[in-house]
Amino acid sequence: MDALYREAILDHYKHPRRKGHLSEPDIQYHDHNPFCGDELTIELKVENGVVVDAAFDGRGCAISQATASMLMEEIVGKSTEELKEVDKQYILDLLGIEIGPVRLKCALLSLKVLKAGLYGLEEWPE
Ligand code: FES
Repeated sequence: MDALYREAILDHYKHPRRKGHLSEPDIQYHDHNPFCGDELTIELKVENGVVVDAAFDGRGCAISQATASMLMEEIVGKSTEELKEVDKQYILDLLGIEIGPVRLKCALLSLKVLKAGLYGLEEWPE
C-alpha cells in the first residue's frame, strides 16, 4: 500500500496540480520552512466563504511540494470555515505514509501557509 502512496507523492511532485498564480487572489500567503529555507505561496479565490480557485507556488523537497499540490486539489469547493479545521492528521492521511519528525515539517508547510492565509482574511476583511 505504501508503494501506491509513494507513487502518488512522486507524481504530484513531478506534475504539480494547480501550480502557479491566480490573477486576483483574495488570500495570498507566503512562508518558508526555517530549517531548510524551502518556500511556499498559497493563493485562494473566495466567494461567499467558499474557495472557488486555488494555486500554489514554491520550491522545495518532494514532500513539501507534493503535499501542497495534493492540498490544492482538496480545498477547492470547501468553505474557509471548514478549512480552518484541517489539521495535521488530515495532511498525514492525504500523504498516506509514515513520516519522521524532519519530514513532518516538510509535510506541514502547506498547512501552516494555508492557515495563516485563512486567518489573515479574518483579520483584514475588505
Ligand atoms: Fe525543506 Fe522539506 S526539506 S520543506
